[in-house]
Amino acid sequence: MRIAVCVSGGGTNLQAIIDKINSGEIHNTEIAVVISNNKNAYALERAAKAGIEGVCISPKDYENREAFNKSFLEKLNSYNVDLVVLAGFLVVIPEEMIRQYRNRIINIHPSLIPSFCGTGFYGLKVHEGVLERGVKVTGATCHFVDEGTDTGPIILQKAVEVMEDDTPETLQRRVMEQAEWIIMPRAIDLIARGCVSVVDGKTKIIEK
Ligand code: GRF
Repeated sequence: MRIAVCVSGGGTNLQAIIDKINSGEIHNTEIAVVISNNKNAYALERAAKAGIEGVCISPKDYENREAFNKSFLEKLNSYNVDLVVLAGFLVVIPEEMIRQYRNRIINIHPSLIPSFCGTGFYGLKVHEGVLERGVKVTGATCHFVDEGTDTGPIILQKAVEVMEDDTPETLQRRVMEQAEWIIMPRAIDLIARGCVSVVDGKTKIIEK
């Protein structure tokens, strides 16, 4: 299975995918390209170190969003990937791309959807909301991307305990270490092995 990984920042989720492909935990999968909207994203360094092609394409380089959307989709299609992995990608996915890649785009969100998700809940703001509300358990969700925000069929979730002395930063780190870096690679492996299907808007996972 050929995948494209879309990134904007540090690339720790990308690194987890690279490491688990190399360790054999993710089966028959290769990263064809890493695409970033941020030329300074450390994720691009991680890709280069792993010998993976990195491409930078940003809405800022286009006169309008339609022009970016068209170019972004053409660039993606040129890599003939089976799955698009959004690993902290801070660009709105074009609707045409969602249509062309129906149930072939996955995202990692740092909460247990449907809690603390949707517009305004991204990055540290998710963990600030968790601490503000005083919930005792949070976690991460890997889901297919549809036309909504964090509304596509859920593939995997993993819970993480909130500690009394947590700050948004310490909580974010623990959710990444104990949940994101585990469920995103696992979801990719399940999809690569043909274990995931979507029926009536919900995923069915059948281990093979
Ligand atoms: C992670 O916190 C993830 O929950 C969110 O974006 C961040 C990406 O971090 N979607 P990294 O670039 O993978 O380190």
